[in-house]
Amino acid sequence: MRKPLMAGNWKMNKTVEESVAILKELASLTKDVADRDILICPTYPALKSAADAVAGTNVMIGAQNLFWEEKGAFTAEVSGPMLIAAGCKYVIIGHSERRQYFGETDETVNKRLKAALKAGLLPIVCVGETLEQREKNETMKVVEAQVKNGLKELETGNWKLVTIAYEPVWAIGTGKTASPEQAEEVHSFIRGLLPAEVKETVRILYGGSMKPANVKELMAKENIDGGLVGGASLKAPDFAAIVKH
Ligand code: PGA
Repeated sequence: MRKPLMAGNWKMNKTVEESVAILKELASLTKDVADRDILICPTYPALKSAADAVAGTNVMIGAQNLFWEEKGAFTAEVSGPMLIAAGCKYVIIGHSERRQYFGETDETVNKRLKAALKAGLLPIVCVGETLEQREKNETMKVVEAQVKNGLKELETGNWKLVTIAYEPVWAIGTGKTASPEQAEEVHSFIRGLLPAEVKETVRILYGGSMKPANVKELMAKENIDGGLVGGASLKAPDFAAIVKH
């Protein structure tokens, strides 16, 4: 059985102080949860304080991106070893907002993925189609290319460290959730693309307007193994409800 991973992506929200306060509240609301993994990905400046705030609890901290070089003259970039040193366990890679606004491609996703694994971070690789692609019936083609190219040349032993997040772009921050059936169709398609050795173990998260009101029906689907939650992860009670659904 795959242990569910409920992950919050805070995007560009919350100061250090606000982040710490929410995390403390969340950790206390979820302290009895043992049957699922809980992760929050705050902004870079808040990472170390966030990790300190949840030390000894079942809430883990991750970053929202990383650069593929370890150090050097790359102004404004942050490396995998730096994230590890700040207390991160996971890192999100290839979020659609990175693809849309910051020139992320499957090739740069792949470089970040390899750098994350080298540093000892657990990568969450995001894939998903735009509304236009869905309407043109290109969803499977787009997702297949993102999985194949973004995760290419991965050693078998590393596959078990990887999580994939399916996030239809049209459902992100729009309040429009994919129906459980629409999501499951793509999740099971993605599972079919995985190497045989890890087909049953790699977790595939759903992202896109997941909230307390729809988490149960999404999580009831066979191939939905957790969530990557934006808006609804910014309030501790809401995210705790999602975690405990
Ligand atoms: P949302 O964001 O839950 O606000 O739709 C999800 C995401 O972008 O990871």
